Amino acid sequence: MSRHLLDIAQLERRTLDYLLDRGEYWLDPAHAEVGRTRLIGRGVALLFYENSTRTRCSFELAARRLGADVLNLDIEHSAVEKGESIVDTGTTLAAMGISHFVIRHGSEGVPAELASALPSGSSVLNAGEAHVAHPTQALLDALTLRRSFGQLEGLRIAIIGDIRHSRVAASAISIFRRLGVGEIRLAGPRPLLPDNTPEGTQMSDRRDEALAEVDVVMALRIQRERMARTTTPDPEDYREHWGLEEADLARLAPEARLMHPGPVNRGVEISDELADGPRSLIREQVRNGVAMRMAVLEWLDEENRNGQ
Ligand code: NCD
Repeated sequence: MSRHLLDIAQLERRTLDYLLDRGEYWLDPAHAEVGRTRLIGRGVALLFYENSTRTRCSFELAARRLGADVLNLDIEHSAVEKGESIVDTGTTLAAMGISHFVIRHGSEGVPAELASALPSGSSVLNAGEAHVAHPTQALLDALTLRRSFGQLEGLRIAIIGDIRHSRVAASAISIFRRLGVGEIRLAGPRPLLPDNTPEGTQMSDRRDEALAEVDVVMALRIQRERMARTTTPDPEDYREHWGLEEADLARLAPEARLMHPGPVNRGVEISDELADGPRSLIREQVRNGVAMRMAVLEWLDEENRNGQ
């Protein structure tokens, strides 16, 4: 049996707490030196079948800071273009000694399919799966909130925008519920909301109501690549009705903070002033992402070595 990180829901509360503590540990520059020896001789492959800047760079840095050998598969120029299946690509890399497979893919189920085909002792790390899961983003968001507020218990959080197509929202909802967040409000234009209200959340298309007195606002990018052109909202229209601006701060709790997983469409989901302002946690999120991914890689490596 190998351990993977496919979804937040698979993790018990004590594992979540353990991983967040380890994320905190790796954020401390005093631990950089010990980090470099953790994954020596281990191979980490990055298989990104969808575009990415921060998640890919973040995983790559995390693996390097742990001393691993990193293989960045250039999908466009790989045998994938000759029709090789993901399972064949994975087992080929496993034969070369790769033990950790970081995968991002636009189709649901692909990370699990890869996980079931790899030899025992290998792990799959889901780096973004269609609209369904992005577990390391949820962990880094939780770490960011924990560092900012001390704990997540009781926080009121509004997630604004394209909830329907967002794997970030799906995994965030899952981790926030497990960590005792007080209220999770979801809001966006009707076509960008899911058909059914996710369990443990309140959903509406009334923006100001959703923002009222919240401690945290998480803005999301419109996932154009996951919707038909006809239903894609006009950016100007979206900015006017849903874009977050300075004036919105008055609606929120006094110490409220702003988040965005990136990439940000500046001036659409969030104004420049807010994105770069003192309430923004956007850079913190990115910084914490590397440490969080170090924690996940280290944990899976230990679990799979012990399990062999
Ligand atoms: C997100 C993703 O790809 O799911 N970005 C990220 O990983 N930080 C969100 C997005 O693309 O909008």
